Amino acid sequence: MSDNSRNILQPVIELMTEISAADMEDLCVAADEAILDGNGFGWLTPPERSVQEAFWRGVIAMPVRELYCARLEGRIVGTGQLVKPFANNEASGHIANISTFFIAPYARGHALALGLVAVLVQSAKNQDFKSLEVDVRETQTAAISLIENSGFLHWATKKKYAWNGEKYVDGYYYVKDLEEVVKL
Ligand SMILES: CC(C)(COP(=O)(O)OP(=O)(O)OC[C@H]1O[C@@H](n2cnc3c(N)ncnc32)[C@H](O)[C@@H]1OP(=O)(O)O)[C@@H](O)C(=O)NCCC(=O)NCCS
Repeated sequence: MSDNSRNILQPVIELMTEISAADMEDLCVAADEAILDGNGFGWLTPPERSVQEAFWRGVIAMPVRELYCARLEGRIVGTGQLVKPFANNEASGHIANISTFFIAPYARGHALALGLVAVLVQSAKNQDFKSLEVDVRETQTAAISLIENSGFLHWATKKKYAWNGEKYVDGYYYVKDLEEVVKL
């Protein structure tokens, strides 16, 4: 086999346990672009690079968080987190959440979001969570289509869920019953 075959880089979803300098650069650029596009998982404008780097390093340091990155042609272009309950939360210990879910605008339409959802669902299922929850602004039509087509049920709407810089928008709350999911 030719060595060139090693350079063919397929879209991939990867669990991050460490973040190299090159990956951190790509991750921060992708997040900046998603924030500027209007979906900044809380941020309304891109934070200083040192602040964002500290945020991602904090994410991978936390045992209750699994950070998955989507790569396109080898570069990180998006993320999704599985957020698990703290050990003290026995009453809700069966519920996991999805957070910081985005694909940078320049990498959309390659089924990477579908791949991220599939990996997050399987990780939650394999750790015996019974429900997987996610919430999203009412204005995120692409995400709403993705979530609803992935078998999540809209169970509540929260008024004034988020401030988008100009006005309040409502938020949709979804849950997926993992007891209906087959472990792969
Ligand atoms: C939602 C988002 C992650 C989709 O990323 P993507 O890589 O383009 O998605 P995929 O190519 O994997 O497409 C998956 C599905 O998403 C939905 N979708 C994606 N783009 C869409 C669009 N422009 N309009 C409607 N539905 C869309 C469709 O259901 C699509 O499946 P289909 O191709 O079979 O119709 C991306 O648009 C994004 O990052 N949006 C901003 C952040 C956000 O809203 N995050 C969600 C917070 S929970």
